[in-house]
Formats: sequence, C-alpha cells, structure tokens
Amino acid sequence: MWRQSALLVFLLLLVHQICATNEQEHACPPSSCGKITNITYPFRLRGDPKGCGDNRYELACENNVTVLYSYSGKYHVQAINYNNFTIRVVDPGVQQPNCSSLPRYFLSPTNFSDSDNFYLDRYQIQNRCYPWKRAFQKHIIFLNCRHAVIDNEKYVETDPCIKWHSKGYIYAIAGDLIAKDFEVGCEVKLVAPTSWWGLDTNNSSYTQMHRALLYGFELSWINLACVDQCGNPDCAFDAYSQKLQCSMYFCRNFLGGRRYFIEGAKGCKNC
Ligand SMILES: *[C@@H]1O[C@H](CO)[C@@H](O)[C@H](O)[C@H]1NC(C)=O
Ligand SMILES: *[C@@H]1O[C@H](CO)[C@@H](O)[C@H](O)[C@H]1NC(C)=O
Ligand SMILES: *[C@@H]1O[C@H](CO)[C@@H](O)[C@H](O)[C@H]1NC(C)=O
Ligand SMILES: *[C@@H]1O[C@H](CO)[C@@H](O)[C@H](O)[C@H]1NC(C)=O
Ligand SMILES: *[C@@H]1O[C@H](CO)[C@@H](O)[C@H](O)[C@H]1NC(C)=O
Ligand SMILES: *[C@@H]1O[C@H](CO)[C@@H](O)[C@H](O)[C@H]1NC(C)=O
Ligand SMILES: *[C@@H]1O[C@H](CO)[C@@H](O)[C@H](O)[C@H]1NC(C)=O
Repeated sequence: MWRQSALLVFLLLLVHQICATNEQEHACPPSSCGKITNITYPFRLRGDPKGCGDNRYELACENNVTVLYSYSGKYHVQAINYNNFTIRVVDPGVQQPNCSSLPRYFLSPTNFSDSDNFYLDRYQIQNRCYPWKRAFQKHIIFLNCRHAVIDNEKYVETDPCIKWHSKGYIYAIAGDLIAKDFEVGCEVKLVAPTSWWGLDTNNSSYTQMHRALLYGFELSWINLACVDQCGNPDCAFDAYSQKLQCSMYFCRNFLGGRRYFIEGAKGCKNC
C-alpha cells in the first residue's frame, strides 16, 4: 500500500514536472519585429528568454527587419505561416523597385540538402499527388552567353535591367533546373529560388522574374512539426486538408470520387 502511494505521488510529481515544462514553453508570449508580429515556437527572436522557441530556429531583429541567418547568408523574413509550417524569406540583395538589383547568394537545391532545420522534399512529394498545386520552389537562373540566343523562348532578355561586367549576353530563365535548357556557350552565373505562383515558365518577362525574386522563397520546418505531432519525422503534409498526416501512406477521398494513395517518395497511386 505504502509503496503504491509512494509510486503514485512520484508519478504525479513527474506529470506535474512535464506539464510545467510544457506550460513554460507555451507561456512565452509571441515576439514581434517589424511586419512579423507573431514570432512563436519553433521560432524565437534573439534576446527572448531562455526556453522560448527552439535555438535552431532563432531569428534576429535588425533595423526593424526580421532576419534569418541560414545557408551561409542572411535573409529577410517576409511571412511565417504556422498552418503549413513555412517561412518565406527574400535575399537582401533584391530591392524594390530597382530591377537591376540582384540576389546576393547563389542558391540551388543542392545547398539545402545539408541543413537539418529546413526541408523542401516533403512538399515536392506532395506535388506529384496534387498536380494542380504549384511547385514549392522554382528557380530564376541567370546565364551569360557568348552568342545571342534567339530560338529558345525560355531565354528572357534581362536588358536594360541587368548589366554585368562581362562580355556577351545576359539571359534569365525561370522554372526548374533542367540540363537540356542549358545552351552551348552559356554559363550559369547565378541561381535563386522563388515560390511565386505567378511565374509562367514559358512566358515570363524579366520584370515578372524580378517580382518573383522580391516575393522570395519558402522554407519549411515540417520534419520538426512531424516529430512534435507524430513522434517521428516521416509524416506527410496533406495539401488537400492542409493538415499533417502521421503516415506517409494514406488514402484521400476527393469530392470528385478520385482517391490517391500517397506512397512516400514513390509518388501516388489510386487506392
Ligand atoms: C517597424 O515596422 C512596423 C511595421 O512595419 C512599423 O509599424 C513601425 O513603425 C516600425 N518602427 C520603426 C522604428 O521603424
Ligand atoms: C500566433 O501563432 C500561434 C501558432 O499558430 C497561434 O496559436 C496564435 O493564435 C497566433 N497569434 C496571433 C496574434 O496571430
Ligand atoms: C503556406 O501558406 C501560405 C499562406 O496561406 C501560402 O501563401 C503558401 O503558398 C503556403 N505554402 C505551401 C507550400 O502550401
Ligand atoms: C540598383 O541596383 C544596382 C545593382 O545593385 C545598383 O548598382 C544601383 O545603384 C541601384 N540603383 C538605385 C537607384 O538604387
Ligand atoms: C551554394 O552552392 C554553390 C555550389 O555548390 C556555392 O557556390 C554557393 O556559395 C552556395 N551558396 C551559399 C549561399 O552558400
Ligand atoms: C511550355 O512549353 C512546353 C513546350 O513547348 C509545353 O510542353 C508546356 O506545356 C508549356 N507550359 C505552359 C505552362 O504553357
Ligand atoms: C505572353 O505575355 C504577353 C505579355 O503579357 C502576352 O501579350 C502574350 O499573349 C503571352 N503569350 C502567351 C503565349 O501566353
């Protein structure tokens, strides 16, 4: 009897301890910097009390601008969306309305693979299941060509915006990085991601591309959200219900009666 009571008291204390830790985390009021007024878990703002947010997701406030230090650079935070676990950032080199302003950093998909804090692929899997959803990230690719490229409509002239101190012609293409798009005699000078939905890969003027760069690109902390909500990093974001699914395998019933089976990295099938 005594033993049982002692165990019960111990358990109660343990539960209280766990709840207190959780309460502390949730008791942190959201922080604010410039136009980002709701900085909360997993983010923290430099200077927030210890224990608020996750140290790996620390943001800074510089001259009233929320800044993310990541990928060997710093990026200006445009928006944080806690519903779909995305943060949208813009390269500080890109300025409005100056279409001559260029991204400061060269960032292609390979740069993202070595970071543990943000992920892209979970959404890319989703895109195969929901073909009407836009790509999570596209790219603007700047090329310096020795010859004028006239027979490839993807190549958009950047004149009079971009003036590089180099010979030849500067073009920009929008879309995915596909080897067959690269013409002989052209060199890739700069790659910058964008999540702007308005990019039509076949018919973009450079002004549109600059707008896309100003919009910035999204990063996601979905793997952390999966660990928090499901206990493991392998869950999926169901773009249809806008909710996390604690399995990579699930069946979705569409209004039109079509069903898809999300099969992890393999894509989708009917189920
Ligand atoms: C900081 O930004 C906010 C939102 O854009 C604005 O309301 C505020 O006046 C700015 N403060 C300073 C000191 O510039
Ligand atoms: C801030 O975001 C948190 C997390 O999603 C949410 O619970 C809270 O209501 C938001 N607060 C405001 C003021 O938008
Ligand atoms: C996340 O939500 C924001 C705000 O609704 C939206 O603009 C963005 O496209 C969403 N991103 C993804 C990957 O669904
Ligand atoms: C526009 O951006 C370019 C490249 O960064 C810079 O050289 C130029 O001074 C800028 N023009 C204005 C008006 O800010
Ligand atoms: C991204 O990777 C490329 C090539 O691997 C490298 O040149 C570039 O500096 C990297 N970008 C950043 C911002 O670290
Ligand atoms: C772009 O052009 C390619 C080839 O001409 C075509 O297959 C594709 O459907 C076009 N995409 C759009 C969005 O118009
Ligand atoms: C391309 O864009 C221009 C200007 O916005 C428009 O006039 C033209 O019809 C578009 N062409 C195609 C094939 O969409």
